[in-house]
Amino acid sequence: MSQVRRSRRAWSPRAASWALGAAAFLACTTPRPSEPPLESVAPSQPSMLTPMPGPARGRMEAAVRANDGCVACHADVAAEWRGSLHQRANIEPAYQRSFAIEPLPFCRSCHAPEAVSTEEEPEAVSHLGVGCVTCHVTEAEGVLAAPLRSPAAERSPHALTRSATFGSAEACAGCHEFRFPFTRALGKATLMQSTHSEHAESPASGRSCADCHMPARPGGGRSHRFAASRNPDFLRGAALITATRKGVGLVEVTLTPKDPGHAFPTGDLFRRIEVHAEVEGPDRMSLASAVRYLARHWGFKPGHVERLLVSDDRVANEPRTVELELGEQAAGREIVWRVAYQRVAHPKGIDEADAEIEGEVVLAAGRLPASE
Ligand code: HEC
Ligand code: HEC
Ligand code: HEC
Ligand code: HEC
Ligand code: HEC
Repeated sequence: MSQVRRSRRAWSPRAASWALGAAAFLACTTPRPSEPPLESVAPSQPSMLTPMPGPARGRMEAAVRANDGCVACHADVAAEWRGSLHQRANIEPAYQRSFAIEPLPFCRSCHAPEAVSTEEEPEAVSHLGVGCVTCHVTEAEGVLAAPLRSPAAERSPHALTRSATFGSAEACAGCHEFRFPFTRALGKATLMQSTHSEHAESPASGRSCADCHMPARPGGGRSHRFAASRNPDFLRGAALITATRKGVGLVEVTLTPKDPGHAFPTGDLFRRIEVHAEVEGPDRMSLASAVRYLARHWGFKPGHVERLLVSDDRVANEPRTVELELGEQAAGREIVWRVAYQRVAHPKGIDEADAEIEGEVVLAAGRLPASE
């Protein structure tokens, strides 16, 4: 059950009434003039009915103005959010390049959620990206918050809807799981991103996304950096990676997830892990090499517009072992191996090795001595 708490103690009356006004304005899809003023109502809603954040909000400049208020009072949170991929969702070059290839209102509904998705977004709405208001101000009363953990929150000058649902994976589901734009069929193969389902099938299903993605801040509160694909330490912490030589040219690489919260990698459809091994000759010449990609592998059907999921060999809840065969050239020679997390900008062709790479992080690498 969620509770609705309201502060009786005014923290800064002018700013507080402004914050209340802005939040209430944003929360209302249609004006409800017959309702009593916010201070005097105390509805209690079952948590499942509390509207959670999602795409296509279309609140435009009103969202920007209300967000300026959040930022002014919550400076520590704002400093983390600014520069995060949420704030940069519509201006990050990786996204901009891919939107240029496929400029659909559908994309805008998540990457510039406060815009009207069918219209070009104003600059301020573009720079807002996924704002404070996008996550915290839905159709629920006041500001959405997780259940109370410290008494400090009682000082809040604005209305709060404390919701157990907001403290769970449901706070993220609206944007982190969705189908291809023109698909009517159901089923996992039609999902462009499936992080929420993957999480539900992981050993961490009982924990929230915030549990891993919003670590406690030293001064109190929860980090809003949401660091993942651009953070090498975070990525390297996801799995233990080992390689062994099983024969003259056979290498076995094993990725053991440490604390899986979903598949690795999750999110964008073109994320992947490259597992590579090579026999080096003189002058670092490559005598033989082998590569495998752990990813969702996409295919096409004649007459079908969208990609279809052909197979999925990402690291999930169990260790994944990959075998690479380098052949006779490996006899009496060292084998060099590496495992890298890659952000693919564009697949280019059907052959996965042709993909254009936006960025990568080497997760592990090493040399295996020549076998006796
Ligand atoms: C006038 C200053 C002010 C404005 C404007 C303001 N807040 Fe707050 N807010 C506070 C204070 C003070 C608290 C209570 C202390 C704390 O937790 O920081 C609080 C509490 C909160 C909490 C609950 C914190 C917890 O411990 O669970 C959330 C969430 C929140 N604010 C988000 C927002 C968002 C989003 C906006 C913009 C729509 C906003 N605030 C606007 C001052 C403000
Ligand atoms: C309104 C939609 C929306 C909501 C709600 C939302 N996200 Fe996101 N999130 C995005 C978008 C869009 C991006 C991608 C931004 C980019 O890179 O262009 C993103 C990026 C991220 C990233 C960074 C991924 C990377 O590649 O590094 C993490 C981590 C993340 N979100 C976690 C969460 C969590 C946890 C929640 C719930 C507390 C959440 N998000 C709620 C839309 C949303
Ligand atoms: C992607 C969604 C998302 C965005 C964007 C976001 N928040 Fe949060 N925020 C959350 C969630 C979820 C929690 C609750 C985490 C928990 O405790 O489970 C939270 C917690 C908080 C808290 C209480 C914890 C703390 O750090 O004090 C405050 C205050 C807060 N947010 C303010 C803001 C402000 C201000 C912004 C913009 C600068 C913002 N949030 C942007 C999702 C978001
Ligand atoms: C048990 C910890 C844990 C939980 C729970 C968890 N994550 Fe993650 N997440 C990670 C780790 C570690 C990574 C980096 C490895 C990876 O990319 O999978 C990551 C990466 C991501 C990324 C970056 C995309 C990528 O893989 O490149 C996104 C987006 C994300 N998580 C969203 C979510 C959402 C949404 C939820 C809840 C439905 C969630 N996570 C739950 C630990 C967790
Ligand atoms: C329902 C919400 C939603 C829609 C619709 C959506 N995205 Fe995203 N997008 C996300 C989320 C969430 C992430 C973060 C996942 C991750 O980082 O792996 C993301 C990540 C991305 C990334 C990686 C960005 C980076 O910084 O690495 C690209 C590129 C991207 N989306 C392009 C698009 C394009 C193009 C469209 C339209 C065809 C689109 N998206 C539609 C939610 C959405």
